[in-house]
Amino acid sequence: MKDKLIQAALEARSMAYAPYSHFQVGAALLTADHRIYQGGNIENASYGATNCAERTAFFKAVSEGTREFKAIAIAGGREGMEPEDYCDPCGICRQVMQEFTRPDFTVYIVKSKTEYQELTL
Ligand code: THU
Repeated sequence: MKDKLIQAALEARSMAYAPYSHFQVGAALLTADHRIYQGGNIENASYGATNCAERTAFFKAVSEGTREFKAIAIAGGREGMEPEDYCDPCGICRQVMQEFTRPDFTVYIVKSKTEYQELTL
């Protein structure tokens, strides 16, 4: 399941709408009942209205009635390129994750299929 989640985060980058930063982030959120919600960052000309990939995935899930989660994988990098570095979630996304998770929630920060960090909030 971990490999599948990591792959799903890498794939979700293609769904990012990032015409301003050209930085594509993908997230894959694993629910307690083993489903995966994917999300990409969705930017806006008014930059504060931008939604990060992590929040896209969480809000998709919560808005469809799911509130129990096991893990999230996050992968980010310049448009059209594989991630060059680890992409850590911003403070607002950490706060959103905190609202809907327990201390055993796992955060995978993904550079590639084989290079990732396994963390908690
Ligand atoms: N971004 C995310 O979607 N998730 C992160 O963890 C870090 C940053 C987005 C926001 C913005 O669209 C772009 O990446 C550059 O900061």
